[in-house]
Amino acid sequence: MPEEVRVWQYIEKTIRDVCDMFGYSEIRVPIFEHTEVFQRGIGETTDIVEKEMYTFTDKGGRSVTLRPEGTAAVVRAYLEHKLYGKYPLAKLYYMGPMFRYERPQAGRYRQFHQFGVEALGSSSPYIDAEVIDMASTLYTSLGIRDFEIKLNTIGCPKCRPAYQSALRAALSDKLERLCKNCRNRYERNPMRILDCKEDVCKELTENVDGIDEYLCDECMVHFTKVKECLDSLGINYTEDKRLVRGFDYYTKTVFEIVYKGLGAQDAIGGGGRYDGLVEEYGGPHTPAVGFAAGLERVILTLKQSGNLPEIVDELDVYIACIGEDITTTAFSLVSSLRRKGISAEMDYSGKSLKSQMKSANKLGARYVVILGPDEIQKGYVLVKAMSTGEQDEVALKGLEEYIASKKRV
Ligand code: HAM
Repeated sequence: MPEEVRVWQYIEKTIRDVCDMFGYSEIRVPIFEHTEVFQRGIGETTDIVEKEMYTFTDKGGRSVTLRPEGTAAVVRAYLEHKLYGKYPLAKLYYMGPMFRYERPQAGRYRQFHQFGVEALGSSSPYIDAEVIDMASTLYTSLGIRDFEIKLNTIGCPKCRPAYQSALRAALSDKLERLCKNCRNRYERNPMRILDCKEDVCKELTENVDGIDEYLCDECMVHFTKVKECLDSLGINYTEDKRLVRGFDYYTKTVFEIVYKGLGAQDAIGGGGRYDGLVEEYGGPHTPAVGFAAGLERVILTLKQSGNLPEIVDELDVYIACIGEDITTTAFSLVSSLRRKGISAEMDYSGKSLKSQMKSANKLGARYVVILGPDEIQKGYVLVKAMSTGEQDEVALKGLEEYIASKKRV
């Protein structure tokens, strides 16, 4: 609805300003892609690909999917347009609707909106920290306080298999007691068991080792450096050994931003590094890192913390007509004011002066011009400043200049 859209526009504007500051350019990826783009990128065994995609066969018999997230689509576009040849480091951002067939609940919708960034072409831990800094700057700029940044590393294809084996061994005698989903994850992706939301799985995995001891040197050094960078910027974070995230493309750093007040769906953003994804699609080795925020959850957070900005309508001038004969003169006046960059409105339905004044108020007019046959004859109009109630008599010919001069103040 229009009054809600105003809040969205404010949020989108803040996002664009933050993106400019951090050097990200906007990319607009399609709303739907060939199904393989998501299947391959996100991973066949993830919840999103297994259960949550809106997949259709089009009239040409092709399988297409409404985008459940932006990263896979951006990587597809990055390769198709050979951006690796154009930019040593491509810093891209996107905003728009995503679709997941999840069970709807507060903060979880089947069509929702994300803002996301992807930085493709650098393996530097500074970029991980920069993306986290950007996320933190964004939430703060939007007026969100008290969010928590959870941070973890999930290793890389070199060191992760050893940890996965250790995890299977540690959980083998508990397998029967895990939830159905986790019994499936046991063989295919045992690390996902660590962030299962079921109490029984949380309990059974309480004492299993984290990945630390299994990390290869490269992953260990990388994670240490990311943390040092964040410390140097004074960004608070909590290390969370159980944070795994639900995409197969992640390597090394993963993070999530949560706002506790939101209840079960408390993640207002999340991201991580995905050094192998571009190669997975057949492209050159391109380490990358990114992040996405859920805009509905950002708005819920602002509402809940009482920080939702009140954005009121604004109108420079309302022309109130006395008598219908005036309509044509007022009509040209409104049009010429608008052409000078002054927002103007009038009534076309012959309302009384009193109800025109009410309309002016509702529209948030700063000035009301009262125009009747006498005023036209004298060549002077009454201009009322709505905030103070002060009235000025202004020559009709000089009205545009008068309003424009007020607008500049
Ligand atoms: P994600 O954690 O799946 O990550 O989604 C990011 C954010 O989108 C979540 O933290 C949440 O705020 C919001 N979100 C997700 N699902 C829903 C839903 N059903 N209803 C409302 N909000 C939702 C990604 O999508 C990754 N592509 C992020 C990324 C970018 N990683 C690297 N680059």
